[in-house]
Amino acid sequence: MQIQNFTMDFFSLKGKNAIVTGGNTGLGRSFALALAKAGANLFIPTILDDEGTTKGLIEAEGVGYEAMQVDITEQGAPKKIIETCVATLGGIDILVNSAGICISDEVENFGREQWDKMVSINLTAAFELSFEASKFMIPQKSGKIINICSLFSFLGGQWSPAYASTKHGLAGFTKTYCDELAQHNIQVNGIAPGYYKTAITEKTRSDPETSQRVLDHIPANRWGETMDLMGTTIFLASRASDYVNGHILVVDGGYLVR
Ligand SMILES: NC(=O)c1ccc[n+]([C@@H]2O[C@H](COP(=O)([O-])OP(=O)(O)OC[C@H]3O[C@@H](n4cnc5c(N)ncnc54)[C@H](O)[C@@H]3O)[C@@H](O)[C@H]2O)c1
Repeated sequence: MQIQNFTMDFFSLKGKNAIVTGGNTGLGRSFALALAKAGANLFIPTILDDEGTTKGLIEAEGVGYEAMQVDITEQGAPKKIIETCVATLGGIDILVNSAGICISDEVENFGREQWDKMVSINLTAAFELSFEASKFMIPQKSGKIINICSLFSFLGGQWSPAYASTKHGLAGFTKTYCDELAQHNIQVNGIAPGYYKTAITEKTRSDPETSQRVLDHIPANRWGETMDLMGTTIFLASRASDYVNGHILVVDGGYLVR
């Protein structure tokens, strides 16, 4: 391919249709808005009602917006989500598996119930949604799946035996699905955010000592702002990253190198 053929349009998502699970809060909202700013229509499956805030932000970008109140772990929900997205927006080009939870407790209090809940949201739902999306992406010979991993896809981590386990699992799933789907021109990558100010990190931030310990570990010397993830999201969802596959892109202000 001639290098002259490269254009900034490679970053455009104009006319693409995207799903972001949990896309109306925290990091999910920034992924959704980034995709909308690059031209994609959005479909948001969520259990939370944000009273139209995300809808307003997305529609202000002049793209389509559809939402669905749904628990992504319910039997049959992933199939219904993908099929409703295709029926309402007209297709599925980008899937961002962002919905996730972190139940934290002492090891001796963290039992099977907490474990199963985290596995079903953080890992099984991402698998099932990707499985259902791939049924449309394979015949169209294109697609982007972005799994929201974590620094705990690489590290251990106290206070939740299941968080690092599910996020390591999600990184492994990213690589296996890449290996299977690359032949169909589908790219499956992960984003590993560092520490960001959202609901999921509230407990860490509320303890001044823990919060300072985190900060001391970040070369950028600040917590991440949700906006810090938006360029990465557009890149991994666009033509510009078609030869990036099976990669977990860390966006952490340098945390992992210290
Ligand atoms: N905030 C951080 O510092 C950070 C760092 C690394 C990774 N992450 C990951 O980013 C992702 C988004 O987290 P966040 O920080 O925005 O927190 P958040 O709590 O604001 O977002 C989680 C979202 O998941 C949705 N969700 C949870 N269970 C669901 C279910 N059963 N069905 C449908 N939706 C469900 C919630 O409604 C919410 O919208 C998570 O996967 C998290 O592990 C966050």
